[in-house]
Amino acid sequence: MVHRLMNEPKLKIKLAFIIGLKEIVLDEISQYPNLHIINGNENSLYLDFVLDLTEIKHLRSVSRAYIIVQDSKYNPLYIFSHKSILGNLIETVINENKDKFKTFKVTCAGSDSSEVRGIAEYIQKTYGLIEKEDADMKIHIIKHDEIWEIGIQITPRPLSLRDYKIKNMSGAMDPTIAYAVNSLCELENVGSYLNIFSGSATLLIEAGQYYSNLKQLIGFDNNKENITLAIQNIKKAGLIKKIQLKEKNIFDKPDLGKFDVITSDLPFGMSISKNEDLEGLYKCFIEYSQEILNNGGKLVIYTSEHEMLEKIILKSKFKIIKTLELKFTTSVNAYIRPKIFVCKLQ
Ligand SMILES: C[S@@+](CC[C@H](N)C(=O)[O-])C[C@H]1O[C@@H](n2cnc3c(N)ncnc32)[C@H](O)[C@@H]1O
Repeated sequence: MVHRLMNEPKLKIKLAFIIGLKEIVLDEISQYPNLHIINGNENSLYLDFVLDLTEIKHLRSVSRAYIIVQDSKYNPLYIFSHKSILGNLIETVINENKDKFKTFKVTCAGSDSSEVRGIAEYIQKTYGLIEKEDADMKIHIIKHDEIWEIGIQITPRPLSLRDYKIKNMSGAMDPTIAYAVNSLCELENVGSYLNIFSGSATLLIEAGQYYSNLKQLIGFDNNKENITLAIQNIKKAGLIKKIQLKEKNIFDKPDLGKFDVITSDLPFGMSISKNEDLEGLYKCFIEYSQEILNNGGKLVIYTSEHEMLEKIILKSKFKIIKTLELKFTTSVNAYIRPKIFVCKLQ
């Protein structure tokens, strides 16, 4: 039981997301009347604290969620001398996820300083947690614009790591981006959905889990291994009866009928065969989509090769009605700036 006193710091929820997805996150939060936004910036939002974190854990556009406190005086030395500030946060997070936290890590500039070492010792002794690099409980002590922030991620794994992922396929899409692509399709009023270049099925599963109205969910890919992994993911997500997967090559323009919505995370770099050229592949994709999209339907595409794609779209029967520019670092710490295009037939 955590007791709160009048002069205790005000707890807040912090939500972190991929740069470029803010409007998607704001839209998702607006569906939950209990969640109130205080302020934010390009990659995070601060919300009033809520005792029941269930809704926060269900957010699909958010990468990570934290419980935090902020104050200009909360530097590591102050926290070391006022340990209950951190203790309160730890207890709140542990109460939410009993038995899930065995290890912890404190991220803070000067993490070898005597104050931070003292804080780590306190956590170890008081809560029986073990300090570890790859830890369940992720604690941060950071300073933004003269304000110190102490925070703890509310779940051991980021919210964006979905339970249905058996293993991570190289080139698989971040599920929060897949959620964004699907939400730009306005799938609430749609019957049929095709995902071209389905890979490990992230877009299909995110659509199937969220939009129960979709009658027809089909995807295709020409890589057997990816199809096998996708089927495992779809089974784990409990959607095997709802999603159909086909092994097809876009160059064969497979006859699968017509669709209200088409989504695609385009191949790039390693995810195309050696004898394929990207421009030819993208041209074929746009031509094929033109033929099989129902009038009034939407084509939503995610790609990091957006300059090439944009030129091809501009010469096609599609018009671009919206774009989102994203920015994030990859696992090898390089920045990528992919785009989402929302298109309609002219
Ligand atoms: C960027 S990945 C898609 C990743 C997917 N969104 C996911 O989350 O796993 C692109 C996919 O296009 C497939 N692909 C490449 N060339 C293709 C072709 N000619 N026909 C069909 N699929 C192709 C690759 O096998 C790969 O799975």
